[in-house]
Amino acid sequence: VLRKDVPKGLQRLPGPKPLPIIGNVLELGRNPHLSLTAMSERYGPIFQVQIGMRPVVVMGGSDVIRQALIKQGEEFSGRPDLYSFQFINNGESLAFSTDLAGVWRTRRKLAMNALRSFSNIASTTSNYSCKLEEHISREAEYLIRRISSVMEASGSFDPFRHIVVSVTNVICGMCFGRRYSHDDQELLSFVNLSDEFNQVAGSGNPADFIPFLRFLPSGTMKTFQDINVRFNTFVEKIVRDHYINYDKNNIRDITDSLIDHCEERKLDENSNIQVSDQKIVSIVNDLFGAGFDTVSTALSWAVVYLVAHPDIQEKLYQELQERVGMNRTPCFSDKANLPLLEAFILEIFRHSSFLPFTIPHCTTKDTSLNGYFIPKNTCVFINQWQVNHDPALWKDPSSFCPERFLNADGMAVNKLEAEKVLVFGLGKRRCVGESIARSEVFLFLAILLQKLNFHGKAGHTLDMTPEYGLTMKHKRCQLCATLRL
Ligand code: HEM
Repeated sequence: VLRKDVPKGLQRLPGPKPLPIIGNVLELGRNPHLSLTAMSERYGPIFQVQIGMRPVVVMGGSDVIRQALIKQGEEFSGRPDLYSFQFINNGESLAFSTDLAGVWRTRRKLAMNALRSFSNIASTTSNYSCKLEEHISREAEYLIRRISSVMEASGSFDPFRHIVVSVTNVICGMCFGRRYSHDDQELLSFVNLSDEFNQVAGSGNPADFIPFLRFLPSGTMKTFQDINVRFNTFVEKIVRDHYINYDKNNIRDITDSLIDHCEERKLDENSNIQVSDQKIVSIVNDLFGAGFDTVSTALSWAVVYLVAHPDIQEKLYQELQERVGMNRTPCFSDKANLPLLEAFILEIFRHSSFLPFTIPHCTTKDTSLNGYFIPKNTCVFINQWQVNHDPALWKDPSSFCPERFLNADGMAVNKLEAEKVLVFGLGKRRCVGESIARSEVFLFLAILLQKLNFHGKAGHTLDMTPEYGLTMKHKRCQLCATLRL
């Protein structure tokens, strides 16, 4: 590999010596978030590894990450052209594709506006403050009924299996104006089988970096491609229906509003169309795709942590009893009055760090950081797990302790502590669904906790070892829930 000369006054990044062809793949192992955290102890908060033939800059220190993603945001806002990304959303993903800055920025703005307007839009009944609150409350009620009936029939339930359908229905409501039954086979065929998706899309997947691995028979890669095809076919059908029934005087959901955007700009003589209709309308694939797996994973972890910490579950229930009561369903405006619940959610984000790395970044030009030279088009991994477990930032980082986020009097969340948790990325590529995601996790959990008591199944031990991927999940398990009277 030709290495670019380092400009005068700058240094080459430190890092382990790579082997020919495979680079440092063996050292990455099965849990790159852990192995790269361990390497960081030796090489510092920013260093370089080589995956296959490709150099990758790894950042795991909070200060370095803030410097790169916020202060030098523009230079670190690209995405690398990785092999697996071309299968996501037909290579046209807003989140994963190598769209040039202008195109990406236009699409990102459209995505944020669409999400904002379709979550804040007024509910059709006066019982809810907005449509998002209505979707979540209704789905949470369905979920409770579903879990109860599965409990009655089989004596235990698989949390992810049912949560994922409820969460998918919230984002489907906003994107497509419809919901699906918990038994819809087409929906289940990709939402319930996202493990391979996460394995392949996770940072450091060797097939992305070592070309010959793509040609070896790999069940995982094949399933990854299948899931993407199923997903794209599912959305294409819905989008086609929307084009047929589109009425500019009745914009029903995000898909309609994206179609409308394309139609309106065609009527505008001054509009400078640089982004194709396809790239506009397919934004909905990204919102739908990013919106179901992440939030389901967070909630499924939450339920597992509740089972592992029954004392915390009891305290959360007491907080709900005192601050909301049992006569009405919790709502968004209760959030400020439920500091322990907020602290619990922050601790799940931190402790599980279920998105261990952001989506990989890429430099958009030659740059430098901390005196090190980083050439244009260098792939960059942001190790969120490391920030969330850094002993310099957290006391006893491996223990699960929601109280760490509470003020001394226990009456409010300490904002400064809360902001140290890194799960949504930072800067220009920061998650566009963050506020919706936080609202969903909060309200689903508040409603579930008010109605159900979760516990383990006799004879089953709870295995909380995360399985590495883009989002890390706990192993599938059987849990029990009883209705609170
Ligand atoms: C990107 C986390 C929920 C839409 C991201 C990134 C992270 C993240 C770490 C990558 C940031 C980077 O590359 O630096 C999460 C977590 C969620 C969540 C932890 C739930 C707890 C959602 C939801 C939506 C969404 C509900 C949509 C409704 C997106 C999109 C991007 C993104 C479109 C790509 C942004 C870009 O590349 O410019 N998210 N997310 N996310 N997220 Fe989320």
